[in-house]
Amino acid sequence: MTTPDFDKIIDRMNTHSMKWDMMEPLYGVPAEDGLSMWVADMDFEPPASVTRALQSMVDHNIYGYYGDDRSYRAAIGWWMAERHGWQIEPEWIFTTHGLVNGTAMCLDAFTKPGDGVVLFTPVYHAFARVIKASGRRVVECELTNTNGRYEMDFAAYDAQMDGSETMLILCSPHNPGGRVWTKAELKGVAAFAKRHDLTLVSDEIHHDLVMPGHTHTPMAKIDGIEDRLVMMTATTKSFNIAGTHSGNVIIPDAALRERFAARMAALGMGPNSFGLVMAEAAYSPEGAAWIDALVTYLDGNRQIFDAGVNAIPGLKSMPLESTYLAWVDFSGTGMSREDFTARVEKQAKIAPNHGPTFGKGGESFLRFNLATPRARIEAAVSRLQEAFSDLQ
Ligand SMILES: Cc1ncc(COP(=O)(O)O)c(C=O)c1O
Repeated sequence: MTTPDFDKIIDRMNTHSMKWDMMEPLYGVPAEDGLSMWVADMDFEPPASVTRALQSMVDHNIYGYYGDDRSYRAAIGWWMAERHGWQIEPEWIFTTHGLVNGTAMCLDAFTKPGDGVVLFTPVYHAFARVIKASGRRVVECELTNTNGRYEMDFAAYDAQMDGSETMLILCSPHNPGGRVWTKAELKGVAAFAKRHDLTLVSDEIHHDLVMPGHTHTPMAKIDGIEDRLVMMTATTKSFNIAGTHSGNVIIPDAALRERFAARMAALGMGPNSFGLVMAEAAYSPEGAAWIDALVTYLDGNRQIFDAGVNAIPGLKSMPLESTYLAWVDFSGTGMSREDFTARVEKQAKIAPNHGPTFGKGGESFLRFNLATPRARIEAAVSRLQEAFSDLQ
């Protein structure tokens, strides 16, 4: 494998990057010296296998419709077995226009307008957005923050259900809290979905980005829920190719597959050749070695960021078990949300995600994307220390 250079600073301004080119218009954080730490993509080049695959398309210079996806499906099967110990069949896979689209497709295929859709909040904000946009109702079941670590409280969630709920969307590993749910917790989720007869959609887009010492368990490895389970995975988050907008909805149960396939057909969904070619090249031994190197680098960034931020009185960064998204609690500062956010954006010139967009429980938090060269993490830490220096 070509050794990846994660320290390389790549200027992403004026490339139609949502993360960088929308920073100033949306946050007022200046383009010339701002640090963009919001949208969850990385400032790193993908593995060389991905670049080569795209380069060979460009060299061929023909961009027609994609067909014969056997090698693509085989690559997904190989990755799930090799990296996640999960055996899948090629016909279980549906390729959607990314996983926000995958979520919307699940809502469309398995719920009706007005149904309640359960989320364990705070959680990835686009879930609530598509649930509301599709005329379904968000049912927020708040995670318990136990000493800076999220846990589930099924007794409380049981009491919240009124029978109108038909789906649960789980984020595993968890964005933004960084939890890698244990097998026992996943069994609890499965039992909860069964008790309330919910279709269980498990969004596992962050499953490759697991910190040393933690092991992700695919929901599909929990017994007894196959007939209600929809798995969602993608190469986009792991390999930094989110602009390709391709994701995989993997459905082991034949009856659920039939319903999903019918909606795919009704909406005229078809694959994007760039996304599929790049994904196949990512799910390779070279891609696997790249992920291992990436996770080591991200773990280093996480340690530097957490040490620097936790040294500021009143700030607490949740220990990340997975993802590159630091979830920082500002409640200990005693400041209003407007005040601590203004210090981060106007004084430190950092653009983070705002906690309330993630739902109940996110009010006192900001989310910082750590998938950037280390020099920027160090700059972010010193800017935050400076902006909150009166608390030191
Ligand atoms: C849990 C989760 N699901 C889905 C997505 C986005 O998926 P896509 O870009 O494939 O629509 C994200 C992006 O951050 C995410 O965190």
